[in-house]
Amino acid sequence: MIKIKKRKFLLLPGDGIGPEVIGEVKKIINWFNNKKSLDFEIEEELVGGSAYEKHGMPITDEVFYKALESEAVILGAVGGPKWDNLEFSKKPERALLKLRKELKLFANLRPAICFKQLVDASSLKPELVSGLDIMFVRELTGGIYFGEPRGIKPIDNGERKGINTHVYTTSEIERVARVAFDLARKRNNKVTSCEKSNVMEAGQLWKEEVQSIHEKEYKDVELNHMLADNCAMQLVRNPKQFDVIVTDNLFGDMLSDEAAMLTGSLGLLPSASLGAKDKNGNMRSLYEPVHGSAPDIAGKGIANPIATILSFAMALKYTLDLDKEAETLEKAVQNVLDEGLRTKDILSNGTKEVSTSTMGDAIISKLQ
Ligand code: IPM
Ligand code: MG
Repeated sequence: MIKIKKRKFLLLPGDGIGPEVIGEVKKIINWFNNKKSLDFEIEEELVGGSAYEKHGMPITDEVFYKALESEAVILGAVGGPKWDNLEFSKKPERALLKLRKELKLFANLRPAICFKQLVDASSLKPELVSGLDIMFVRELTGGIYFGEPRGIKPIDNGERKGINTHVYTTSEIERVARVAFDLARKRNNKVTSCEKSNVMEAGQLWKEEVQSIHEKEYKDVELNHMLADNCAMQLVRNPKQFDVIVTDNLFGDMLSDEAAMLTGSLGLLPSASLGAKDKNGNMRSLYEPVHGSAPDIAGKGIANPIATILSFAMALKYTLDLDKEAETLEKAVQNVLDEGLRTKDILSNGTKEVSTSTMGDAIISKLQ
């Protein structure tokens, strides 16, 4: 018998609906393990508000080092109203930002695909979104999210000043642009780069560096530059004009939420955060659904596990190079949607409402 390589994944369910949706991924991992087609070694740890409750901090050093040593991290969601008023450094979101920054996960891939079964769930007209398939590449470890100086400081007149700094260097722009161009070559060969070069120097640099890497290495790929505000408008005017969109951390945060809603269902969208490849072709990675912790529906068994399951499929594809297994899982999701099974968030006339775990089980039954 051929010996299958052990794969070390760390699961961080987090807060709100995180544990419920990660629960369904655990079932899928068990399915692969039982079938002996893959051999996953899974560890599970606290992150976000749930880690704060136990340890007084959103991620412990121990968990952070486990993340460093895993092949991939699969995260549910962090945050909730319970922790809104914590001091900044203790907020659940700090754990996620620390993982992104210190694992050097600079490229955040967020596919916005409109599933044909859900065309009617979009707030846009069906003809605008049917067949929609955009890949967002969001820069994830730079820009205003991490720039220094930052903070809140008292100033002379009794007022306070809040400071954040939007900053990018050539190499930060180049490496994320390369990810976008490489992806475009495997898709429709078109990249749109978004910034505010009309207002910000860092935006002007972004545009110039993307242009220059294009001229040097990617002349075969079509490149357009677009101001980020125009991009926000074009996304609702004619979203199918886009193939790959590459943009900075903050614009990527906002534009990807906007695009997600075009697909009708935040509950279906996965994401991958990737680092650079080392000389053996390995890289650090973290996978998470685009939706948040949805505290209002947590614990009710109604959350949609598909975004997290598709995030796991992205892990199979990008971290393990198992394209075939990833496709099988994506197909299983499609089949279940074809059969009309829906969680509450994507329920429509003529479809059948199922719980989080029934959805997970149905997907697994299609894997057989
Ligand atoms: C996202 C989220 C995060 C972000 C939050 C939870 C810190 O909105 O992943 O899009 O702003 O990056
Ligand atoms: Mg966001």
